[in-house]
Amino acid sequence: MQVIVTIDALRAARAAYGPLGLVPTMGYLHAGHLSLVAQARQENGATAVSIFVNPTQFGPREDFARYPRDMERDLHLLAEANVDLVFAPTVSTMYPEGFGTYVVLPSADEVLEGSARPDHFRGVATVVCKLLNIVQPTRAYFGQKDAQQTVVVRQMIRDLNLPTSIVVAPTMREADGLALSSRNTYLSAEQRTTAPVLYQALDTARQRYAAGERAGEALRQTIRAVLSSAPLVSPEYVSVADPLTLRELVTVGREGALLSLAARLGSVRLIDNLLLEPMA
Ligand code: PAF
Repeated sequence: MQVIVTIDALRAARAAYGPLGLVPTMGYLHAGHLSLVAQARQENGATAVSIFVNPTQFGPREDFARYPRDMERDLHLLAEANVDLVFAPTVSTMYPEGFGTYVVLPSADEVLEGSARPDHFRGVATVVCKLLNIVQPTRAYFGQKDAQQTVVVRQMIRDLNLPTSIVVAPTMREADGLALSSRNTYLSAEQRTTAPVLYQALDTARQRYAAGERAGEALRQTIRAVLSSAPLVSPEYVSVADPLTLRELVTVGREGALLSLAARLGSVRLIDNLLLEPMA
């Protein structure tokens, strides 16, 4: 496994490979990342993983400084997973003095994570665009857990004619339903016990949908009601939206829906979502 920190060295190393799968990450890897790596290995001749905690996608009051990092452990896991290339640039490599070009998708800032986290998707789209330009992967792998991120990246790839296909893999969960996230490490023991209520709330709405409920507000209310049973949890938003436009739905139609939420447990902010599949 080659561990590369500069753009020139990455480009030179990449030239030795044909079809390449890239898993972009911010490190502190968990089983969700490793399952994306395993899928990338199956579908491409070679696999690259980027590890970069991207400052431009964190707001001024967010957790950039304390975001968990453990490069040694990450590299060990990636070597065991038979990754070919690891790209781990510094902040000044990605954003040198004088950097001034950003990728902006204004519609992303109007809904869900975008409205809760101003400039977050500007940072995500910019860094993913740069990583795709630098690594030139055939396919790039993302988790469904960050549902809006997958919508943003898909649109950016389409709008900017980038020669990479996006692959989205299902959310990996703990046995009790909690979606895997590097931020789960922030949870206290009591918060960790409560956190599966996020998934339970979404799953209860999914069951109501399966039983025939189609009203968006009734499904949102179901999610809110389950969350309110957990006093440690403060919901930030609860959404039943069109899976492509992410606009809130009055009625869930044939296109299905994205059920999603963000909630705080103390100072820890978690997100989760479930897709209601389109009907045949
Ligand atoms: O999902 C993440 O870990 C990040 O948003 C990504 C895609 C690596 C960009 O920094």
